[in-house]
Amino acid sequence: MIEVKDVSLRYRDGTLALNNINLTIGESELVYLTGPSGSGKTSLLKLIMGMEYPTSGIVRVMGQSIPEEKPEDLRNMRKRIGPVFQELKLVPGRSAMENVLMGIRFLDFSRQEIKENAADALEKVGLAHKADSMVENLSWGEAQRVAIARAIARKPGLILADEPTGNLDHDNAVNILNILASFRQKNTSVIVATHATHLIENQRNITIIRMSGGNLTVEKRGGEK
Ligand SMILES: Nc1ncnc2c1ncn2[C@@H]1O[C@H](COP(=O)(O)OP(=O)(O)OP(=O)(O)O)[C@@H](O)[C@H]1O
Ligand SMILES: [Mg+2]
Repeated sequence: MIEVKDVSLRYRDGTLALNNINLTIGESELVYLTGPSGSGKTSLLKLIMGMEYPTSGIVRVMGQSIPEEKPEDLRNMRKRIGPVFQELKLVPGRSAMENVLMGIRFLDFSRQEIKENAADALEKVGLAHKADSMVENLSWGEAQRVAIARAIARKPGLILADEPTGNLDHDNAVNILNILASFRQKNTSVIVATHATHLIENQRNITIIRMSGGNLTVEKRGGEK
């Protein structure tokens, strides 16, 4: 599903955010991306979304090479990704439902499907009752769930969530991680960048990527103790 080979990412100001990393993520994997602030988590997610291009090396995501040969290839690849941004990127002055709808209106769904997917997604994150609330009136945890609903309404093959538990208390953080984990299925992988490592310590059947200064180590944890 994702292949990152000998990839470095250097920003224009000279910062080396990813230092010759290698990584393979398969279908239906649940991956936690951890590491201190500035270690390269968001940079790696942006690379996988095609929002940044590798300075060197090869990235392949769901069969698509980055950089792409044709712009529409990247657009098609992005249609299959459900992103949850660190800064949420909700549109103020619009309701929770409108925000979810905005995330899916340019995908290849019929009008009926768009309505159904959006309603289902809000239901799944437990926010059906807030569908008509303006997003700026929601609590931070609720706003985070709207951002997740917007991502999952796309029925993505790959969910990329950047620090979705930031600013949440323990119970809400557990809840958000459980919601995200529940979308891992046959054809859908889920990658979650999080500082909440204490919440994943005892989980099985997951992949943990630990980042540090643009480098990473990968632990593929099996199902048995
Ligand atoms: N657009 C940019 N231009 C220049 N440097 C950048 C840019 N974006 C990130 N960086 C730098 O790249 C490094 C990795 O940043 P990144 O945002 O990937 O870290 P992170 O692990 O997501 O951190 P956090 O946990 O705080 O979100 C940092 O040194 C950061 O300052
Ligand atoms: Mg980040």
